[in-house]
Amino acid sequence: MKYDAVLVLDFGGQYCHLIARRVREHGVYSEIVPHDIKVENIKKLDEKFNVKGLILSGGPASVFESGAPRLDPEILNIGLPVLGLCYGHQLIAYMAGGKVGPARKREYGATYVIIDRPAGVLKGLNRREKVWMSHGDTVFSVPSDYEILAHTESSPVAAFKHREKPIYGLQWHPEVVHTEKGMQMIGNFLFEVCGCEANWKMEDVIEKMIEEIRIEVGNGKAIIALSGGIDSSVATVLAAEAIGNKLTAVFVDHGFMREKEPEFVRRVFQGFNLNLVMVDAKERFMKRLKGIADPETKRKIIGEEFIRVFEEVAEKTGAEYLIQGTIYPDRIESGFRRFSDKIKTHHNVAGLPTRIRFKKVIEPLRDLYKDEVRKVALALGLPKELVYRQPFPGPGLAVRVIGELTEEKVEIARKADRIVREEIEKSGIKDRLWQYFAVLTDTKSTGVKGDTRAYGYVVAIRIVESREAMTASFARIPYKLLERISSRITNEISEVSRVVYDVTHKPPATIEWE
Ligand code: XMP
Repeated sequence: MKYDAVLVLDFGGQYCHLIARRVREHGVYSEIVPHDIKVENIKKLDEKFNVKGLILSGGPASVFESGAPRLDPEILNIGLPVLGLCYGHQLIAYMAGGKVGPARKREYGATYVIIDRPAGVLKGLNRREKVWMSHGDTVFSVPSDYEILAHTESSPVAAFKHREKPIYGLQWHPEVVHTEKGMQMIGNFLFEVCGCEANWKMEDVIEKMIEEIRIEVGNGKAIIALSGGIDSSVATVLAAEAIGNKLTAVFVDHGFMREKEPEFVRRVFQGFNLNLVMVDAKERFMKRLKGIADPETKRKIIGEEFIRVFEEVAEKTGAEYLIQGTIYPDRIESGFRRFSDKIKTHHNVAGLPTRIRFKKVIEPLRDLYKDEVRKVALALGLPKELVYRQPFPGPGLAVRVIGELTEEKVEIARKADRIVREEIEKSGIKDRLWQYFAVLTDTKSTGVKGDTRAYGYVVAIRIVESREAMTASFARIPYKLLERISSRITNEISEVSRVVYDVTHKPPATIEWE
């Protein structure tokens, strides 16, 4: 069966991925494609699913600048419904010969829009609706084959529709939760304008992913790096379902794991039909990292050494296929979108594969978002403690011990991490937190323990709330809880004399310290 699908054309906007996600929340499949996709490529995709419409995302450019991302004009003539959002809205107006220019007053944030004609995408809306705006340019007029559907004080054409063709534009962002009826607007486009059927379900996706792995691997063998995080765990279980013991899952213990992590992974995966190889590589990692204090160098070395270890196992098993748990946001962060910037080397994405020539890299989760991966994980029967565990960076505690690593320091970080986890998990506030952990800083400070002077390490506590890790806020957790964490760390870890709380958002800080 083919799913009905709506393609999102990526013009570089920060909410682009949210659009695809909202479409899927309506039960319609959605995929993000480059903004300059050609009609013949759309037709090709139409063989895989029924392409019923296109949404043009927002973006940072101005349509009248040279070099601004453009749309193949043919796309507006093939009869496919099109919805332009923000930049997409301005682009359609501009291409049609409308007047677009810098706004006299920029609109940013929650804005009230007056709906002049509640038709098509705006069907069923009130005269006045709260929407989320974020734009520097404005559409001032559209040609006579278009009609205006909505306006605001500073945007005379806040929404439009072509009089005959199913082409719409909205200046605001219906995909953002602050647009109160955003889901209804997207639903209107999908069902009223495109005539989609909501026939996309997570269970079908699981079947499809398993089938894909089975077909790709055929009679061959595959290997996967299993970290114990949710993404690689889900990819491992899917692959195990697909190819059973033709799969080898490799867990590399680099020595920077949380307490009891290897045991946890063994316990969860022993019930599945796969070969699990646990590699104790602590010594070789520590040796390579001796004397290295620079965070990016540390990350690079860990990434490289990880690959070496992994390659050694891969060579032994004779696997021709590499399976990876890459998810959609990872692809954005590692620069698959043209406008994204690299902040850190995320080792599990950037690293594999290298020297080994795999016939193919299979990424069954490549189009899913974290919350979708969680749904898949639950459906596959992975335990809740794994499904809802906080993210943990590939290089592990190595990036939570600032500066040069020693076994002693890593051990202190590990103990502090356990205390933070225990206290947060006991407190009942875990569900609203994205991450909670301890960082061993490279600062020492004077303290007094008993009656004696103590000169010990400073541990920083980092607890953040976030939705996608692209931005984060430090969590305002109760002082009582902070106090408990602080006293336990200073009491139970003799090398620590002081505990501080990190009160920086992301941006400007990142979540991890290195
Ligand atoms: P930053 O520190 O860049 O982190 O704000 C964003 C999110 O990514 C996690 N993180 C990693 N995850 N491999 C991963 O899989 C890595 O190398 C890595 N480094 C950071 C971090 O914990 C946060 O959730």
